[in-house]
Amino acid sequence: MKYVLLFSDPGIDDALAIIYALLHPQIEIVGIVTGYGNVSAEQATDNAAYLLQLAGRSDIPVIDGAQGPFSGELVTFYPEIHGPEGLGPIRPPENIPGNHKPFQEIFSIIKRYKNHLTIVDVGRSTSLAIAFLLDGEQSMKSVREIYVMGGAFNFPGNVTAVAEANFHGDPVASDLVLENGSNITILPLNVTNFSIVTPEIIDRITQQQTNPFSFLIKPIFDYYFNAYKKLVPGINGAPLHDVLTLFAVIAPEQFEYLLRRVRVEFSLLSRGRTVADFRAKPTEEPKETLDRIVIGFNYQAFIQDFIRTLTTK
Ligand code: BDR
Ligand code: CA
Repeated sequence: MKYVLLFSDPGIDDALAIIYALLHPQIEIVGIVTGYGNVSAEQATDNAAYLLQLAGRSDIPVIDGAQGPFSGELVTFYPEIHGPEGLGPIRPPENIPGNHKPFQEIFSIIKRYKNHLTIVDVGRSTSLAIAFLLDGEQSMKSVREIYVMGGAFNFPGNVTAVAEANFHGDPVASDLVLENGSNITILPLNVTNFSIVTPEIIDRITQQQTNPFSFLIKPIFDYYFNAYKKLVPGINGAPLHDVLTLFAVIAPEQFEYLLRRVRVEFSLLSRGRTVADFRAKPTEEPKETLDRIVIGFNYQAFIQDFIRTLTTK
């Protein structure tokens, strides 16, 4: 069993990741930290609380994360991809009751699951960076592993030519996380872009599905897929970046990796760009600074697991 503290900005692929995690027999979500990104932090909190309510799991703590990046600049949201409220055409009720907790709850969870906790960050990096900055008792050292969806290597980004959204949103925070965390696995955009789920797969799931999320999977997916069709002409489905990141947590053997030190640029033109030394003989870096970069995965294994999990009753 993987005990997962999820940092997220739901967001459609985030919402599908939360649903996947709630239904997966090998994952136990022990808290969701909601921050700005695809939507505002307030909306992300409502969306996470709504999904937990649907699952009958309002006991899971929802922790208020960052409202914006370290730079203090105004945040741009993505209604054209994720919908005005982050769940495509679905309008979640406001101020959903739930187990809302302040930021310090992160440290209580880390202590409770000492050496057994997996942190998964599929949103902007600010909240996780703040956890490192506030960690007076050095509890972050007892986190077992960290999985991060972000960055783009030698490949076009999705917000600028060189940057992926999660690392572009707060590159200072992303770099801080990568430099301070240990046992980090990075799922960059150039890999997650291949986690394509097609409308046929979604139809198959909705035909078989009898769980509490049945009514929203297809509408939110269709919204997201329509957005992707405008971004990438000819695309036959939509990438579920954040779901793939959770799949990596439970099936690490289905992925290929390179160990490199990864840094994130924060200068103007290359803001959010991820840099690693991919030369045949890279400069040697101290072991503790190395990150595990995902460079490939078994697509069929991912899709089979996704279908099996989303059709769980
Ligand atoms: C990442 O950015 C967000 O839009 C998605 O939810 C995903 O986490 C992809 O670049
Ligand atoms: Ca996300």
